[in-house]
Amino acid sequence: MRFGAVIFALGRGKLYLSHAPIIGGVRKTTIARMKVNTKSDASAPVKVGAKAATSLAGKANPKGKKVNKAWLHEHINDPYVKLAKREGYRARAAYKLKEMDETLGLIKPGDCVVDLGSTPGAWSQYVRRKLSPAGAAAGELKGRIIGLDMLPMEPIEGVVFIQGDFRELEVLQKLEQALVTDARAVAVDLVISDMAPNLSGIESADAARITDLVELAVEFAQKHMKPEGALVVKLFHGSGYDQLVKLFRATFKVVKPMKPKASRSNSSETFLVGRGLKRPD
Ligand SMILES: C[S@@+](CC[C@H](N)C(=O)[O-])C[C@H]1O[C@@H](n2cnc3c(N)ncnc32)[C@H](O)[C@@H]1O
Repeated sequence: MRFGAVIFALGRGKLYLSHAPIIGGVRKTTIARMKVNTKSDASAPVKVGAKAATSLAGKANPKGKKVNKAWLHEHINDPYVKLAKREGYRARAAYKLKEMDETLGLIKPGDCVVDLGSTPGAWSQYVRRKLSPAGAAAGELKGRIIGLDMLPMEPIEGVVFIQGDFRELEVLQKLEQALVTDARAVAVDLVISDMAPNLSGIESADAARITDLVELAVEFAQKHMKPEGALVVKLFHGSGYDQLVKLFRATFKVVKPMKPKASRSNSSETFLVGRGLKRPD
C-alpha cells in the first residue's frame, strides 16, 4: 500500500480509504488534469490511410504539432491498424486485450468488467462484443461494462461511461455508484487498466506516475473485485517495474506478465495480469 498517496477520511460513517494524492501533507481536492499521452499508439486514430499520410506528414496538425513521419509510416503499415479499421475497432489496442483474453480466458458471459483509461474505446468495444451472445457490437449484452477515462469517449452501446480522473476521490465514488444495482454493490469480475500518463522522459517522474496509477488500480481491485476475479494493468519496463511485480505477487494468487504481439516490440510497454485475490494477512 502506498502510504505517500493514501489518505483516510470519514464517509458514510465508515473509515474511507481515499486515493486522492497528498501534496505537501494537504489533501488536494481538485487535481489539475494531467497532460494525456495522445501520441500513444493505443489512442491514435485508426482512420489514417496512405492518402492522409501523404497529406499529414511534415504538416502541422490542428494543435500546431508536426506529425512524425516515421511514426506515421509505421502506423499506416501496421497490420493491427489495418485489422482494427476492417473490424471496426477504434484503436489497434483491441488486439492486445484480445490476445490476453484468448490466452488466459479472462472474459466470460455475465461478467462485470471495469475498463480504466477506456478512451477511445477499443478495449470496451472488444469486451462488449465478447459479452454479446452473437459477438455483436450492438443488441443483447450478457454482463456489464463500465468505462472510465479523463478524456471523453464516443458512446458504445451497453457501456456505461464515466469521465474523470481516476486519482480523484469524487471520480472513484462515481465509479462505485455505477456498480450499485438494487441498492447493492456488484462485485467486479475483471478490471482492465490501460491507463497511461503522459511520459515526460524523466525516468523517476514517469515511474512515479505509472506506479501511482497501477497501485490505485490494485487498490480498487482489492476493494471491489470478486475473490476469484482478475486485474490487467499496463505498465512499462524500467524503474518501478520490479516494485509493481512485487505488489502483484503480494496481492494475487497467480501473476502473469504478458507482452501481446500487438504491443510494439520497440516499446517498453508491457502488461501484468493478476488472478485470484490473496486473503489479507
Ligand atoms: C492508451 S489509452 C487507452 C486506450 C484504450 N484501452 C482503448 O482500447 O481504446 C490510455 C488512456 O488512459 C487515460 N488516462 C490516463 N491517466 C488517467 C487517469 N488518471 N484517469 C483516467 N484516465 C486516465 C488517458 O486519457 C487515455 O485515454
